[in-house]
Amino acid sequence: MNSILITGCNRGLGLGLVKALLNLPQPPQHLFTTCRNREQAKELEDLAKKHSNIHILEIDLRNFDAYDKLVADIEGVTKDQGLNVLFNNAGIAPKSARITAVRSQGAARHLADQHSGAYHAGPRRVCRS
Ligand SMILES: NC(=O)c1ccc[n+]([C@@H]2O[C@H](COP(=O)([O-])OP(=O)(O)OC[C@H]3O[C@@H](n4cnc5c(N)ncnc54)[C@H](OP(=O)(O)O)[C@@H]3O)[C@@H](O)[C@H]2O)c1
Repeated sequence: MNSILITGCNRGLGLGLVKALLNLPQPPQHLFTTCRNREQAKELEDLAKKHSNIHILEIDLRNFDAYDKLVADIEGVTKDQGLNVLFNNAGIAPKSARITAVRSQGAARHLADQHSGAYHAGPRRVCRS
């Protein structure tokens, strides 16, 4: 694998995936990782200091205006090679999947974000570019 973009890498499954990829016998040449706030992504920053293939990109995926910069930043590294893999990880993982624990406000936000394309449209554009 030459290059991969993983969204939401400052914690949870995204951070775990980054660590797993780094442990491969042949890690990706370019590991593009996104987070909303680099200052709060200490573990990811520490990994990037040790592994030069990690590129940290700051973006809130609900901010559509930031997508052009995301695409440009990745293209600046991959040039004409493009991106091989998109792992659209960022999103909201509810603490409980029990229907009795679901609050209407949280459910509405979850639906708006996950299903309006907020987490998917930007990274998908990167794949097309
Ligand atoms: N864990 C599970 O059992 C499970 C089950 C099914 C599906 N999933 C899905 O798997 C994904 C990861 O789950 P997880 O347990 O690792 O969740 P998590 O620990 O809550 O991490 C979510 C990640 O997404 C980022 N994120 C959320 N909203 C964002 C936005 N608007 N823009 C940019 N980044 C955003 C978070 O950044 P911040 O730190 O800035 O909030 C964080 O890095 C989610 O999409 C979740 O729905 C998880």
